[in-house]
Amino acid sequence: MKAVLSNVNLINRQNDLVKEFYSHIDDLMDHPTVLKMDDFTQHLNTSRLQHSLNVAYYSFLFARKLNLNVRDAVRGAFLHDLFLYEWRTEQPVEGNHFLIHPIQALLNARNITEVTPVMEDVIASHMWPIGNVKPKTSEGWLIQMVDKMCAVMEIGVQSTKKIERFNYAPILLGLLFYIN
Ligand SMILES: [Fe+2]
Ligand SMILES: [Fe+2]
Repeated sequence: MKAVLSNVNLINRQNDLVKEFYSHIDDLMDHPTVLKMDDFTQHLNTSRLQHSLNVAYYSFLFARKLNLNVRDAVRGAFLHDLFLYEWRTEQPVEGNHFLIHPIQALLNARNITEVTPVMEDVIASHMWPIGNVKPKTSEGWLIQMVDKMCAVMEIGVQSTKKIERFNYAPILLGLLFYIN
């Protein structure tokens, strides 16, 4: 198990970085609601659970580097897409998916853990600027950026067209160089 484009083996709990990362989400990793995210695809063949792990892991690296609230950033990031339906074909309430799913994720997150104000901001605002909730915290600003970065990486690495991969490469390399 690895985050997209990362060389770090997230199964190796002997690794101090991995240990620290999981210390923030250990109680959530095996929760049935969280595991259910594996039944849904997010970007091409990336499951929603893998996407959530990708966003949580890169948010962890950035939040450490920027001296933010690492725990709330990672927990909010891990739960930011905690909605359990196939949005392309079904939706629990009427409306635009980009506006609705952060609210569904927030409701589901509240059912499985305590959601701090920072986590709430991270989850509610992660679709900014497509969504209408603007981040109020540094962690919120960070995760809305990491979410998009991960979407680009997930789609980029699965793209079969070389020209598309080439277009993504400079953005990905710049971001990876910054956090490594
Ligand atoms: Fe989302
Ligand atoms: Fe997302």
